Amino acid sequence: MKQLIIFATGNKGKIREIRDIITDPDTEVLSMREAGVEADPDENGTSFEENALIKARAVADLIRKKKAEGTLSLDTENTQITVMSDDSGLVIDALGGEPGIYSARYLGYDTDYNYKMEQIMKRMENVPDEKRTARFVAAVGAVFPDGSEHVVLGAMEGVIARGIFGLNGFGYDPFFYLPEYGKTSAEITEEEKNAISHRGKALRAMLSLFDTWKQSGATAKDADTASVLNSASACAEACGDNK
Ligand code: IMP
Repeated sequence: MKQLIIFATGNKGKIREIRDIITDPDTEVLSMREAGVEADPDENGTSFEENALIKARAVADLIRKKKAEGTLSLDTENTQITVMSDDSGLVIDALGGEPGIYSARYLGYDTDYNYKMEQIMKRMENVPDEKRTARFVAAVGAVFPDGSEHVVLGAMEGVIARGIFGLNGFGYDPFFYLPEYGKTSAEITEEEKNAISHRGKALRAMLSLFDTWKQSGATAKDADTASVLNSASACAEACGDNK
């Protein structure tokens, strides 16, 4: 049986990252647009995990609906479909976990990231080096072919710098300092970042969960719900509490 993973994003970087991780030749990865199933639900969850699952669930529901109507423009013969989605953000300890799930919306969706970072650095002017700890957190949510829901988390630890350095990456990367590299995450290469990033970790964890599911042929919804809940409570410690 072939496997099709539809990743609920329009971001080409995320699709590239997931394709780089998957080595199984029987698993294809498509973006929402490539699969012709675009959904844009309100991400009104109170945690990264909830928001990741909201998106995955919305796309899975749309696929079910289109299948029932006969309007799904995908060849699903001998194919099982899994929907995955991610939600991520920056959690800063000295700011009580801000901007957290509001990272993209912080000071306005369309506001330039240099301005967002400058404002954060201003707020943290008097925060000493040892208290400038922060992490990028990513949740990857999935609806497997049997309808079961799963969510996993990944984090990348760092420190909020006192300036903006580097041109790689995106968003808050230029002021996110990685002590073990002596550089910000905008100064390391895309390959280096994928190997250590919150999203890379969460994606690899989800793909490993998916491999286990495929091998076991598991279908028990109750057990899957339990794994979602366990993962969510594990994050309370790992991911800060701005959720
Ligand atoms: P989303 O998960 O695509 O909604 O992204 C959430 C927001 O978190 C992004 O718009 C960025 O502001 C921030 N963010 C998440 N991951 C990263 C990263 O790896 N580098 C920089 N900013 C990030």
